[in-house]
Amino acid sequence: MLVDFHSHILPGIDDGAKNIEESIKILDMMSETGVDLVYCTPHFYPHEMSVDRFLERRRQAYGKIVPYLKPHHPRLKMGAEVLMSRSMLTREVLEKLKLEGTDFVLLEMPYIHFSQNTYDGVADIADMDGVKVLIAHIERYLVANSEAEVMRLMEGENILGQINCTSLRKMGDRHRCMNFIKNGCVQALGTDYHRIERGYALLDEGISILKRKLSRAAFERIIQSSEMIAENCDVDEILDI
Ligand SMILES: [Fe+2]
Repeated sequence: MLVDFHSHILPGIDDGAKNIEESIKILDMMSETGVDLVYCTPHFYPHEMSVDRFLERRRQAYGKIVPYLKPHHPRLKMGAEVLMSRSMLTREVLEKLKLEGTDFVLLEMPYIHFSQNTYDGVADIADMDGVKVLIAHIERYLVANSEAEVMRLMEGENILGQINCTSLRKMGDRHRCMNFIKNGCVQALGTDYHRIERGYALLDEGISILKRKLSRAAFERIIQSSEMIAENCDVDEILDI
């Protein structure tokens, strides 16, 4: 089963798909890549909107595309890309933002140098009962952090990582993603698809690059760990494969 853990394809809710037509075009394109399941993960900025208002907006956005969904489209599940905030992300809030059918929260880190407060905040969230952390596109924080500093985020218990398929296209970014993979920091893939005009890599492109660049065992480990996240397996069990 191929899973896209990160997308902004619901219409008009964030800086992703602009309208129903664009959402459906993206889904048409995705259906040709063999992806089975796509999590719709609109941005949730805790300082901008209440979680209940966010859920209502997400419900409405999804409702708009339902009449146009076709059998060939990938299965959709709801989620959110939750911007890290140590003070505002309580367990009650996170409970409502999990990737549907799992205890995983797709957590977006700030694009600044991580402070001790950031590390402690992530560890606190990962420690919460019934909450598991999937860090969104771990390679993107290298703008302000070293590889070691990003990897330090993932040293805690109950924390997994996702990379964007588009980051595998360019040599430099790909090299950095490969380093994360080699260090056991990547268990999930995503397109982080926003607008068609931006030309994102879809899941099949990311997968064919990984197939070429990784050993068969390392490649299969990522596919299997993705499935296990969608099945809500324990983090330790996923890291053990
Ligand atoms: Fe995103």
